[in-house]
Amino acid sequence: MTRNTKISSKGLGLLAFVLIGLIAGCSERKDPRSELTPEQRWARPDVTWTAEQLKQLDRGYQVYRSTCAACHLSEGQGQALVGAPALNRNPLVATSDSQDVIKVVLSGRSAMPSFAKSLDDNQVADLLSYVRNAWDNRSNDTVSAEYARQVRSDLSSSSNE
Ligand code: HEC
Repeated sequence: MTRNTKISSKGLGLLAFVLIGLIAGCSERKDPRSELTPEQRWARPDVTWTAEQLKQLDRGYQVYRSTCAACHLSEGQGQALVGAPALNRNPLVATSDSQDVIKVVLSGRSAMPSFAKSLDDNQVADLLSYVRNAWDNRSNDTVSAEYARQVRSDLSSSSNE
């Protein structure tokens, strides 16, 4: 009796494990991006990315998915329900200078929370490199962690005045 119970709970555990694996495996396969090389994913007619820039864009994608997509959605289309504007084709996002969009992310704005504490300079730089080149956005450059650090320190000194 006891022995049977033990076996079946082990069996259930194994079944759950296999199911989780299957679900994870399927969702992995559903992402068409995972079948592309970084060069293919980020291919732009006018840009030759360095290997480091390609890594940065891919890291930024991960930050975006985990930090911003809940409100701005995975294709940057925005979500009226939470008042989050589209980031795709957003004039603030893919401008010549990333300063303003870095400031929004660090400070937050009305219903958007501040990410100054949860994202470090590298993550901000990766994230904005991604957002400025994702979907139809084409800044064709990446943001350095040094620049993110500078904008952050400008912000904190102006708020201390
Ligand atoms: C909790 C929901 C939420 C999350 C998470 C969120 N935002 Fe927002 N975001 C908003 C809302 C709401 C606004 C509009 C704020 C306003 O009314 O000015 C906004 C505005 C913006 C704007 C300004 C757009 C414009 O046209 O003025 C940018 C840029 C932006 N968000 C980027 C991001 C990025 C990048 C992330 C991830 C770090 C992020 N947001 C995470 C809700 C969110």
